[in-house]
Amino acid sequence: MRAFIAIPVPDDIKQYARMLRNELGRARPDIKWVEYQNYHLTVKFLGEIENKKASELKRNLQMAAEAVPPFNLSAGGVGFFPNQAHPRVMWVGIKGEIEKAEFLGDRVDAFLSSMGFESEKDHRPHLTLGRIRSEKNLKEMVNIMEKLPGRENLRSFRVENFHLMQSILGTAGPQYTVLDTYRLNG
Ligand code: 2AM
Repeated sequence: MRAFIAIPVPDDIKQYARMLRNELGRARPDIKWVEYQNYHLTVKFLGEIENKKASELKRNLQMAAEAVPPFNLSAGGVGFFPNQAHPRVMWVGIKGEIEKAEFLGDRVDAFLSSMGFESEKDHRPHLTLGRIRSEKNLKEMVNIMEKLPGRENLRSFRVENFHLMQSILGTAGPQYTVLDTYRLNG
């Protein structure tokens, strides 16, 4: 199965992301938008996992969760990876206790390294709004973006758990399901 580890985001953050999508979408950019129910912060993408590795994986994620205390993040503003000149991914920025989110990523990396998963180069948390397919109408969209309320309008939320997610790819886009939940308990 195809799997990843994600921090869930509360409904008000999802509503904020959808508002941004609606506003930016008025420019008719060529973007594959992430669907409302799929909004999340990726901690680590695992890719294909053999079913027989699932219980070892879950044990390691449980140990990672027990090493990390809950923390607070906030969401606001829009940005691009790798940059605005050559955008591939459009995201909502995440601020707040970023060092604690990075610590969670580090602990997950550490506990999964024995299973052969490579560590991430960086753990910059972000909420992906959409993936840019071409530069069509991008300038128009950036014009709208620059007039939107910025990072001064951050919305905060508490991260108390993370999920092991399954991703089933389909023609209508990916379908995500929560396989397991780990409460931060460090
Ligand atoms: P992203 O939001 O930063 O693009 C589920 O596919 C999640 O895993 C996505 O949200 C994506 O994070 C992340 N991911 C990281 N590497 C990936 C890869 N090679 N293929 C698919 N998703 C990947």
